[in-house]
Amino acid sequence: MLENKDIMKEIDINGIEPADETKRQYYYMAKAAKYIKEQEEQAGRKLTYYVQNFGCQMNARDAEKLAGVLEKIGYVEAQDENADFVIYNTCTVRENANLKVYGRLGHLRGIKRKNPFMRIGLCGCMMQESQVVEKIKKSYRHVDLIFGTHNVFKLAELMVTMLEQNQMVIDIWQDTDKIVEDLPTERKYKFKSGINIMFGCNNFCTYCIVPYVRGRERSRKPEDIIREIKTLVADGVVEIMLLGQNVNSYGKNLDEPVSFAKLLEMMEEIEGLERIRFMTSHPKDLSDELIEVMAKSKKICRHLHLPLQSGSSRLLKEMNRRYDKEQYLKLAGKIKSAMPDISLTTDIIIGFPGETEEDFLDTLDVVKKVEFDNAFTFIYSKRTGTPAATYENQVPEDVAKDRFNRLLKEVQEIARKKASVYENTIQQVLVEEVNEQDSALVTGRMSNNLLVHFPGDESMIGTMQEVKLKECKGFYYIGEQA
Ligand code: 5AD
Ligand code: SF4
Repeated sequence: MLENKDIMKEIDINGIEPADETKRQYYYMAKAAKYIKEQEEQAGRKLTYYVQNFGCQMNARDAEKLAGVLEKIGYVEAQDENADFVIYNTCTVRENANLKVYGRLGHLRGIKRKNPFMRIGLCGCMMQESQVVEKIKKSYRHVDLIFGTHNVFKLAELMVTMLEQNQMVIDIWQDTDKIVEDLPTERKYKFKSGINIMFGCNNFCTYCIVPYVRGRERSRKPEDIIREIKTLVADGVVEIMLLGQNVNSYGKNLDEPVSFAKLLEMMEEIEGLERIRFMTSHPKDLSDELIEVMAKSKKICRHLHLPLQSGSSRLLKEMNRRYDKEQYLKLAGKIKSAMPDISLTTDIIIGFPGETEEDFLDTLDVVKKVEFDNAFTFIYSKRTGTPAATYENQVPEDVAKDRFNRLLKEVQEIARKKASVYENTIQQVLVEEVNEQDSALVTGRMSNNLLVHFPGDESMIGTMQEVKLKECKGFYYIGEQA
């Protein structure tokens, strides 16, 4: 890892910009820092930033990278949008994610009018859609900076351009094969962290916009990933979440291919690292090798998120998922027999074009047979540019809602039943925070992702505790130290 502090000191902002991309970005951080200092003097106070994240864990990790750069530049974190630099890291996986951003952007207009130092940035998946950028250019002129998913690493450089000129700065890349290592990050939790192991997706499920906004699959080199984890562990991290749209195809396109299971085996060796999580797995790529490695691992958590999307083989084909109902059931069975205590969770889409009652009953059937520990259920949302958006037989809203409610009821009943089996057992719990409602309690997480509240204090945060689970409250437990 490059020593950030030293890099900042060594930089001559009047000299030529370095060729190495990481160093170039530090050069721009130093340059932006000078502008921010000047503005601080004018304002007579520190300038503040606020990063609002929308969407998935991948975006949450990007948000930490944005915050890392902004802190280096000299901004201090604000608690809300009354800040000098507000950036929205957007999501576009479903339509309502987009609507939220437009709503909040409207609200920012009034705040900006009152603060001459305020700048507004937008980045993330939504910005990769040209019609979105056109709409912002036309109707949201108070936005200062727009960039996308492929050039998040360029924030410092773009900030400099924004601070030097008085018009909207837009920089959207269509795709990239570039992965820039070693930039600063500002972690939300001291003891756990997300880690990108790959970017992009090659699967083109017909409903999904991700491959269009996140580009083609690119894996980071194992040595870069391991090095990052070791640095994090030295800094107090005990739990990591490996992030990728399809972690099971990790490493296939590296110059020296490495399987995801092999990568996990390398991580198992890292001293001080206690828990490894990962998401998301695509059923079509989940190997026997992975199941074997998971089953014998002491660190990989007993939780697997395995999106089903639909239980109907006909719809799965229409969705381009490349597995059918039987194959999914077989895979889930194999995983459960290798690890009887595994918690299986899933994603399900209701109302995909052409979904019939019979298709829906197939989905319910899989839910009942697999007995998922939890499921994220979504009503299909039409995304412009995806194949399914052009399918004619879209499902009426009321039909989709009715199926959605029936599905949710089933999912919740099963989840409740599954969660209750741990009553009176003793479990290892990683303490995450002081309980929000009752400060005499702390909240922690079991390996299988269930939450437990038990008496404790702030000093326990980030430590592993043995907890007796006293009472199951549906989706969480009340316990006490064993
Ligand atoms: N409509 C509804 N849900 C979607 N997802 C992805 N695209 C769509 C869409 N167009 C869901 C899938 C995926 C999860 C992250 O979001 O279930 O697994
Ligand atoms: Fe979207 Fe399918 Fe890729 Fe997941 S695997 S991100 S659902 S295209």
